[in-house]
Amino acid sequence: MSAILVQGYHSLKGELKIQGSKNAALPMMAAALLHKGTTVLRHVPRIQDVYCMMGILESMGCVCDLRDHVLTIDAGEVTDIRIPKEGGKAMRSSIVLLGALLGRCREAFVHYPGGCSIGSRPIDMHLEALSRLGAEIREEEGVLHALAPRLEGNHIHLPFPSVGATENVLLAAAAARGTTVLTGAAREPEVEELCRMLEAMGAGIRGLGTSRLEIRGTDNPGSVVRDVPGDRIVTGTCLSAVMACGGEAVLRRSSPGHLECVIGTMKKMGARIKVREDVLEIRMSGRPKAVSVETGPYPGFPTDLQSVFMVLMALSEGTGYLKETVFEARFATAKELHKMGAAIIIEGDEACITGRPGLRGAQVQARDLRGGAALAVAGLAAEGETRITDCHHIFRGYEDLCGDLQSLGAVIRREK
Ligand code: EPZ
Repeated sequence: MSAILVQGYHSLKGELKIQGSKNAALPMMAAALLHKGTTVLRHVPRIQDVYCMMGILESMGCVCDLRDHVLTIDAGEVTDIRIPKEGGKAMRSSIVLLGALLGRCREAFVHYPGGCSIGSRPIDMHLEALSRLGAEIREEEGVLHALAPRLEGNHIHLPFPSVGATENVLLAAAAARGTTVLTGAAREPEVEELCRMLEAMGAGIRGLGTSRLEIRGTDNPGSVVRDVPGDRIVTGTCLSAVMACGGEAVLRRSSPGHLECVIGTMKKMGARIKVREDVLEIRMSGRPKAVSVETGPYPGFPTDLQSVFMVLMALSEGTGYLKETVFEARFATAKELHKMGAAIIIEGDEACITGRPGLRGAQVQARDLRGGAALAVAGLAAEGETRITDCHHIFRGYEDLCGDLQSLGAVIRREK
């Protein structure tokens, strides 16, 4: 099985270019379905979730070609409107194909999506929002059948700014008749990137980056060439690695504008961080100072960096708190960190963490994507060797975590 070996206690120094964003690339790939021709996406990360999405698109009749990091999707002919069970269950993002298929074909069959086990992750908001656009959605033997012969703009309000539900509305509304007004929308940078792509394809979108989006549909979404932005969560992981080990690093294509809350917190913890356009420079010496962090929808502190911050706090001077407000079951990594000597007490949605001067190497298990990457960072700051099992979770979202950390001087490799 897939495992990573880490030798800890080395300070880091180096430079690297951050991969393209998983959570931006996947909905952009879904958007390619709206155009009856070829879409080109550049800086696409070569990760399992992208391969999985390519497989699903190919099963529907699209032709996908990923060379280096340039992905060409020819959606000239969509021959199947069923998302295959295996692909659909393998990742959460398959659900955004529902909005895209309704936009393109007015009909779709999808399974309840899979993805990381970090909470119950229902899709009620997606379904309610798409029915407001005219879709009739029925469950038939565990499969959702959505039909929308008249897909039409409407007013929709999301009770929570769900990233996926916002993306589903955008994808369907961009190809619907009339205008959709979406309030309570997610403001994540990946949502904004999708808006920009849909605009370039011919939809009219107002309110980019705000919680009120106005989407005017187009009946003929056009061909586009788009760049996937740098992955802010991978950037946050690499910055955390430097904070955990001490040292310095230069990160290019690092989306600093989307990490204000994270950078602010890291500075409070003692990191020295400079921003030059899309380049971030970080220096860290000594142990991080304890802080208290509460996750929240963007522009709040990203839940996807909560696990790696748990590692930083486990190494910090003092006691701090982490409150998880987005996913109810995202503290599974704490159990693994206990094996490495971390002092973490979980009560409901809050973790109380008392920092220790160091962690110790251990055999640990990646429980989910971001938690797995956090364990790699913990291993870098631990005495001795850490072996992380079940790393297939990590490969879903990190193109080459070991290679990235090696370019910063870390001793880490995939087990043969
Ligand atoms: C996206 O997930 C990301 N995934 C997640 O990243 C990220 O953690 C999350 O947004 C929050 O930022 C992708 O973009 C592919 P949500 P998504 O809908 O869209 C509840 C990673 O590691 N909810 O904003 O699934 C839900 O249960 C992943 O890269 C409902 O109750 O997140 C959760 O508690 C993990 N009903 C909250 O809303 C719904 O219909 C936020 O979920 C939809 C969501």
